[in-house]
Amino acid sequence: MTPPRRVVAITGAGGALGAAISARLASEPATDLVLSDVSATSLDATVEGLPAQASVETVIADVSDLAQVESVMTLATKRFGHLDVVVSNAGVLSSNGRIHNLDTEEWERAFRINLLGAVNNIRAAVGVMRPRGSGSIILTASVSGLTAWSHAAPYCATKAAVIQLAKVAAVEYARDGIRVNCVCPGTFESAIHAELPPDALATIAGKHPLGLGTAADLVGAYSYLASDASRWTTGSAIVVDGGYSAP
Ligand SMILES: NC(=O)c1ccc[n+]([C@@H]2O[C@H](COP(=O)([O-])OP(=O)(O)OC[C@H]3O[C@@H](n4cnc5c(N)ncnc54)[C@H](O)[C@@H]3O)[C@@H](O)[C@H]2O)c1
Repeated sequence: MTPPRRVVAITGAGGALGAAISARLASEPATDLVLSDVSATSLDATVEGLPAQASVETVIADVSDLAQVESVMTLATKRFGHLDVVVSNAGVLSSNGRIHNLDTEEWERAFRINLLGAVNNIRAAVGVMRPRGSGSIILTASVSGLTAWSHAAPYCATKAAVIQLAKVAAVEYARDGIRVNCVCPGTFESAIHAELPPDALATIAGKHPLGLGTAADLVGAYSYLASDASRWTTGSAIVVDGGYSAP
């Protein structure tokens, strides 16, 4: 009998890391993808980068809205029959500023997209994974959730919360056969840094013993967590940061 195909949903699939994860998982055997993002342009670019034979559906969804995230998971089950893996990857960098200078709107934007977005992914994913008794949920956190970045408190605080969210969810859903982990990347090149002052990236690069990364440097961790090789891994924060957090 042919083994069932693996069905993967990725939210925040546009952008540098979303495109790299999508291309890597699409290149692995017997994988169907549902890709979503708030930006149609970014999503189109991700789809263009997929291998020709990729089996993919796309849908626009804002991760801060539970109903929209649920529509991603529903599309996966309607189109492909079930859902094995969810990657919660959307994220925004907060504006450069000290804590007292960042307004409430700025704090709420980071909470809504970085933290509530991850919560919504877990809520929607467990809704379809629990009845089947299996699944792997992967949250994109950041090494900024483990170390202090001056002038980026909303980003650091929400990414730290994502790490803790993965741990609590791992404990809560282990009995349902669902694993929950996160990946903590160091800094790699992407549009997320577009608003940074010009010389900031060079300064950040100097703090990474292996230099700045690329999205391609991260995908191995996602591939591992999306596979059965990680069947005994849950509640983990896998750091892939070019040595940034080592000193
Ligand atoms: N680039 C880095 O150095 C770095 C380091 C650590 C962690 N990360 C994390 O990696 C993830 C991907 O970031 P990236 O660097 O590829 O940046 P990116 O800006 O290239 O991609 C982010 C994607 O998230 C999407 N997005 C934003 N708000 C959304 C929303 N409300 N709903 C759905 N999608 C939304 C954007 O449209 C974009 O496609 C983020 O979670 C980010 O925090 C990035």
